[in-house]
Amino acid sequence: MGIAVQISRHGGPEVLELVQAAAGEPGPGEVRIRHKAVGLNFIDVYQRSGLYSLPMPLNLGMEAAGVVEAVGEGVTHLSEGDRVAYASNPPGSYSEVRTMPAMCVCRLPDAISFETGAAMMLKGLTAQYLLKKCMPVEGLTPGDAVLFHAAAGGVGLIACQWARALGLQLIATAGSDEKCALALANGAAHAINYRRENFAERVQEITAGQGVKVVYDSVGKDTWEGSLASLRRFGLMVSFGNASGPAPAFAPAVLAAKSLYVTRQTLFAHITSREATQAMADDLFAVVESGAVKIHIDQRYALADVQQAHRDLEARRTTGSTILLP
Ligand SMILES: NC(=O)c1ccc[n+]([C@@H]2O[C@H](COP(=O)([O-])OP(=O)(O)OC[C@H]3O[C@@H](n4cnc5c(N)ncnc54)[C@H](OP(=O)(O)O)[C@@H]3O)[C@@H](O)[C@H]2O)c1
Repeated sequence: MGIAVQISRHGGPEVLELVQAAAGEPGPGEVRIRHKAVGLNFIDVYQRSGLYSLPMPLNLGMEAAGVVEAVGEGVTHLSEGDRVAYASNPPGSYSEVRTMPAMCVCRLPDAISFETGAAMMLKGLTAQYLLKKCMPVEGLTPGDAVLFHAAAGGVGLIACQWARALGLQLIATAGSDEKCALALANGAAHAINYRRENFAERVQEITAGQGVKVVYDSVGKDTWEGSLASLRRFGLMVSFGNASGPAPAFAPAVLAAKSLYVTRQTLFAHITSREATQAMADDLFAVVESGAVKIHIDQRYALADVQQAHRDLEARRTTGSTILLP
């Protein structure tokens, strides 16, 4: 038994409840993990509010790090006592202990702490596939300009640093001058406060009227039109989130003038096998261990204070990663 955070209806942070939950013996393909730290992600807000609707009651949380307590039949890549971290379905990481599928659980390198592991798996694997797998038709080469929204957030600060390591000119947007400064300090080549400035116009100025090859857009409703306007010919719009609400429906004809491409991506389509998950995690571990990407844990809360953590994330008061401590 251990404490877990559960919802039995959709709503605001007040629907998050602490319950006692049993973590049973792992079945085939499963492990039981005792968590040391838990990652907070914007997807948890969508699942709580009902934007993404899952069966109730629902234990929330998609990311954590801890120690393997028991291993089920057929699991060959993990042993009891291993230090591990994961981004994985089904939700349930907001807990002291849980039993779950082992497929996406990765052994944590000795040099990476539990807190860092919990702060980086979902966000870092997302930055990995965005920058390495979502390629515009003309390819990406060092020196190319890309636009990344909410760049001072959890995924954003990792993407800024990783893009710099790849030689990309990342143009960041963020919701305050302080957040813009943070993005610049973490490798963004330019930063735009999109609450004060028209970011699409600024992108045209910065790129001398060319536009960018890729826009990584997790803000959704508020940025959709400006993002399309920021792209160059044959550019790629990567929609991967809805922090301001879902992106609007659109007619393909709006893409015609610049022959644009649009894709809607999710991490969970990229981590559907053990091999694929481990290959992406190894790439992430390598950039973190090399120091090229530093994981910023800018907020820590007790697991019991999860309601406040959700309030702060939704109110745009956080930067970098946030962890919950069981
Ligand atoms: N599809 C995938 O595979 C995938 C995986 C991971 C994350 N995501 C998405 O990536 C985004 C970042 O995730 P994260 O967990 O790292 O969160 P985060 O970036 O730390 O927090 C979200 C940020 O979005 C910005 N934002 C803009 N408009 C907002 C609004 N109306 N309400 C709240 N926030 C707003 C805020 O930054 P500013 O104040 O700077 O605007 C806020 O800090 C989320 O949209 C998430 O859903 C998608």
